[in-house]
Amino acid sequence: MSEEAAVNAPRKSLHGHWSSRMAFVLAVTGSAVGLGNVWKFPYVAGENGGGAFVLVYLICVFVVGLPIMMSEILIGRRGRRNPAATMALLGEEEGSTRRWGLVGVAGVFGGMLILSYYSVIAGWSLSYIGHSITGSFTDQDAAGISAIFGSIVGSWWTAAGWHTLFMALTVFVVAKGVEGGLERAVRFMVPGLLVLMFVLLGYSMTTGYFQQGLAFLFTPDFSALTPNAVLAAMGQAFFSLSVGMGAVMAYGAYLPEDTSITKASFAVVSADTFIALLAGLTIFPIVFANGLSPGSGPGLVFQTLPLAFGNMTGGVIFATVFFLLLSFAAWTSAISLMEAATAWLVESFRVSRVAAASVIGGIIWALGLGTVMSFNVLSEVTFLAGTLFDNLDFLTSNIMLPLGGLLITVFAGWIMCANSTSEELGGAGRLYRAWRFLARWVAPVAVILVFLNAIGVLSFT
Ligand code: PHE
Repeated sequence: MSEEAAVNAPRKSLHGHWSSRMAFVLAVTGSAVGLGNVWKFPYVAGENGGGAFVLVYLICVFVVGLPIMMSEILIGRRGRRNPAATMALLGEEEGSTRRWGLVGVAGVFGGMLILSYYSVIAGWSLSYIGHSITGSFTDQDAAGISAIFGSIVGSWWTAAGWHTLFMALTVFVVAKGVEGGLERAVRFMVPGLLVLMFVLLGYSMTTGYFQQGLAFLFTPDFSALTPNAVLAAMGQAFFSLSVGMGAVMAYGAYLPEDTSITKASFAVVSADTFIALLAGLTIFPIVFANGLSPGSGPGLVFQTLPLAFGNMTGGVIFATVFFLLLSFAAWTSAISLMEAATAWLVESFRVSRVAAASVIGGIIWALGLGTVMSFNVLSEVTFLAGTLFDNLDFLTSNIMLPLGGLLITVFAGWIMCANSTSEELGGAGRLYRAWRFLARWVAPVAVILVFLNAIGVLSFT
């Protein structure tokens, strides 16, 4: 089909469509809910002092993340291609330039960089399934759990092995295409994860430190709110919602015409935020009850939750199911992290999905070895933000995602005309006007202010 014909005919995606509105909501939820909620949110909140960080995070989720998610989905559905091609096509169609496609290309690389370390952490989760089944956590104290964690993370070939397995599982699904398996996986994963989180929350309430946990998360101490903490809170909002690199845009390309983007986005954002808060509420009482430090970094969740499992009846079963579900949650996010890159390779170079997914997966796997080693042989090698892992995480979550999100929301709010966006968002009612105000003004200005503040040009915190 020529470009012009493609513009006029109702567009179809090359990669198939979601079978229903529910399937789309599930897929985006699967992308959003993952290690970001259970692993990253608690440790980043812990490192940045709790309450005030959480407040900024919540504000960012609703006034920046939500409108950007809606922008991504509407752009994706209108263009119906991979994010790079979609933004190039719409850029031209809306009277600007095809160069907007570069935002999509940046997202392809951003997603690959994120997945390179995401897969390593997911590997830790996989290895914890084995430790759970064999009862390694039973009756352990904090030092015992730390030793188990250290035996995985501190040995580069053990960690590399689990990373390899996780990448293989991810490539396998991505190679098969969006309709295969993903919907079904998410359908039991999210409810299952919620049930287990409540079991853990129940345990946390018995530690006697629930009040402290609650206070840590919800009593803002603004003196802990450094410019970098504000940046981290914004980065966490982008990361957790999967916005800023085109993952949601790629999924939007497979969305049926009659689905309400506003409703779907609200549902995903609420579920994602709820799960993150639940994880925080569960973890901090355990941290305080065991005299651990909230700021102990990426190992936080892996060193606290096993304590809970090891001390509760039925802990072996609960732990096994929990780490299984967490690995599933990571899996559905990882798939979305590869989707933009894979679709881009397939469409740009006319290769098969299997070939595209394998090549992309191979590159990501190799990059991931850097993160594997950041926790052992290269742990002493630090620069800028810390280890190689710290730098990758900082660069992607705190810079690339917000920058990508900024360009996406500027595109949807300023480059696309109101007719196009209101058509996608179901008419020009009150909700539409609220979205447009957030997308044109609030979200871009907020991202710019947080950036300027972090580099020291402003000092509002
Ligand atoms: N949102 C996912 C999580 O919270 C991670 C992710 C980030 C996925 C960016 C896709 C894009 O685990």
